[in-house]
Amino acid sequence: PLVSMKEMLEDAKAGGYAVGQFNLNNLEFTQAILLAAEEEQSPVILGVSEGAARYMGGFLTVVSIVEALMADYEITVPVAIHLDHGSSFEKCVEAIHAGFTSVMIDGSHHPLEENIALTKQVVAVAHTLGVSVEAELGRIGGQEDDLVVDDADAAYAIPSECDQLVRETGVDCFAPALGSVHGPYKGEPNLGFDRMEEVANLTGVPLVLHGGTGIPTHDIQKAISLGTAKINVNTENQISSAKRVREVLAEKPNEYDPRKYLGPARDAIKETVIGKMREFGSSNKA
Ligand code: G3H
Ligand code: ZN
Repeated sequence: PLVSMKEMLEDAKAGGYAVGQFNLNNLEFTQAILLAAEEEQSPVILGVSEGAARYMGGFLTVVSIVEALMADYEITVPVAIHLDHGSSFEKCVEAIHAGFTSVMIDGSHHPLEENIALTKQVVAVAHTLGVSVEAELGRIGGQEDDLVVDDADAAYAIPSECDQLVRETGVDCFAPALGSVHGPYKGEPNLGFDRMEEVANLTGVPLVLHGGTGIPTHDIQKAISLGTAKINVNTENQISSAKRVREVLAEKPNEYDPRKYLGPARDAIKETVIGKMREFGSSNKA
């Protein structure tokens, strides 16, 4: 069923595992992620950036595709459709109105008080409708669609500010920027685990780790042990599917039927997602 993230993340935190947020880019991503979740009997969060929604047609298109696939595939595991890095109150409301069950309001580029005020506004609307909310503090480096943060602007979240934001807004989960990066890492990631633990203890809510691509398993395990209950992955699926398309087209240069190269790309995404679900410990937790 389509649900908010609230219960699945509380269960994950209590159970010592994390639920993956896998971002949608097109129909094949949506198919692959839903099929992986059902096969693994794992709860799943479908992340949709504003750019990806635009590419697919709009929020309504995304919700319609997800709902139709869930019916056709007879999906039984809990699924959330989550706006990733929502840029404004208006965009969050638009997504909720279209049927999203969860939204992130990313006010991380605003000063603390403004971020809190904006997040509060979103929570007021979302919670009235049973929709969960994620907020962010600090700045996650790298690039995801419209969101570009230079190395110099990337900033670690300050625990006391995280505590204040979560307390004053009532968000369901929280993403403190602690050195993770959108897109591939330059070298090994340097995650602020001391602060992660402090933020988890101060706020009490499930934490979210953005930039899940390229984080070594021991860091994933450590993050989960410190209260991370949601891990976002996009680039890794993009890389594995693009690689598969290149292989197929290199092997068969005369191929033109999209099903012959996008089908294998879909299989690659599904395999990648299944690997992540096992790594995050969410398999058989539906
Ligand atoms: O919000 C989405 C994620 O943080 C994706 O990060 O593309 O580095 O896996 P990634
Ligand atoms: Zn992100």
